[in-house]
Amino acid sequence: MSEKVKVLLVGAAFSADLHADGYARIPDRVEIVGIVDKALDRVHALADKYGFEGYKAYDDYKTAIAEADCDVVDICLPNFLHHPVAMAALNKGRDVISEKPLATKVEDAREMVETAQKLGKHIYYAEDWLGSPALRKARELVDSGAIGELQFVRARECHSGSHSPFAQTIEFCGGGAMVHLGVHPVGFMLALKNNRWKELVALTSGGGESNLVHKTMEGEDWAGALMRFDDGTTAVLEANYVTLGGMEDSIDFYGTKGCLHVDLTFSSAIQGFSIPGFDYTVEKAEVTTGWSKPAVDERYNLGYVAEIEHFVECVAEDKDADVGLRGVDGLETLEVINLIYKSSREGIRITNSKLEN
Ligand SMILES: NC(=O)c1ccc[n+]([C@@H]2O[C@H](COP(=O)([O-])OP(=O)(O)OC[C@H]3O[C@@H](n4cnc5c(N)ncnc54)[C@H](O)[C@@H]3O)[C@@H](O)[C@H]2O)c1
Repeated sequence: MSEKVKVLLVGAAFSADLHADGYARIPDRVEIVGIVDKALDRVHALADKYGFEGYKAYDDYKTAIAEADCDVVDICLPNFLHHPVAMAALNKGRDVISEKPLATKVEDAREMVETAQKLGKHIYYAEDWLGSPALRKARELVDSGAIGELQFVRARECHSGSHSPFAQTIEFCGGGAMVHLGVHPVGFMLALKNNRWKELVALTSGGGESNLVHKTMEGEDWAGALMRFDDGTTAVLEANYVTLGGMEDSIDFYGTKGCLHVDLTFSSAIQGFSIPGFDYTVEKAEVTTGWSKPAVDERYNLGYVAEIEHFVECVAEDKDADVGLRGVDGLETLEVINLIYKSSREGIRITNSKLEN
């Protein structure tokens, strides 16, 4: 494909802004042909912010998918809409980028993946951690043998609660903190080990009144899983909505000859003190006064920029994404998260029946 990749961006709020930022950094390779949101004012605000021109604004995804001349439909809508929008896009002959989680139900995610395979289309699964420069470097260091044989990984994403009203209801989002935030450590770890997990056991808070803090949220506000992979590597994967002070994305690697500590959100080169407060420091920070570490380029550090660039290249070359960023990886991640819920609910250890001995 010699021309620009034509994108229909579906959604114009928080995650659409992250993706739009990625597209805006490679204007010679991308054309935003349409933006959809039922709130049309958000469409225009997003386009103005990034200087997109010549796009068509839609308030209905069905009309947009039927009409727009695009190569890929990029879905940045609440979780329960990923499946219907992806199905409409695939059936129209478009590739699909889907925000995480791939769907709210495993059956829906499987239908998306199987439909793409049947139609010869690609689903690109937006796991931004895989685009993070620090995590890419850490993987290179692990692969180089710098910390010996990798034995244990501890990874977590935690903050104080989602901004999205859809995150409160399981029907709309598929779970609680583990499906919203744990999707990153779980997806990262599965990609690191090529989906070859062997067993898992988990605990979560009970949702609603049984939560630690968020009593009106249906899903859990705290979740932890222990996983073992078929090469013997173990992992502790954690997600919670009980963490104040800004989003924690931290990943620790322990090997036989060393260790690595990666901090994606609080590792800014700037440390500062402000009495009135900074405009912004890190995602979900409740206050910005006093001592803090204002992020330099948060979106780059978290991986969104490289993720979008990779997807644009894949669409242009009609190829699948890297491991961890394919539809099948989104499906596997959702399956594992649902097994984490099952383990917690039933108090059982679960083994991977798909892994041959
Ligand atoms: N990768 C990440 O780090 C990350 C971060 C945040 C959100 N997300 C994911 O992105 C997705 C969207 O989350 P968000 O935070 O951007 O949500 P949001 O609530 O900020 O925005 C959702 C947008 O969808 C629009 N919308 C809702 N229903 C619609 C419909 N039927 N037709 C057209 N527009 C509709 C709303 O008007 C709103 O503007 C979710 O799946 C979430 O999990 C990913």
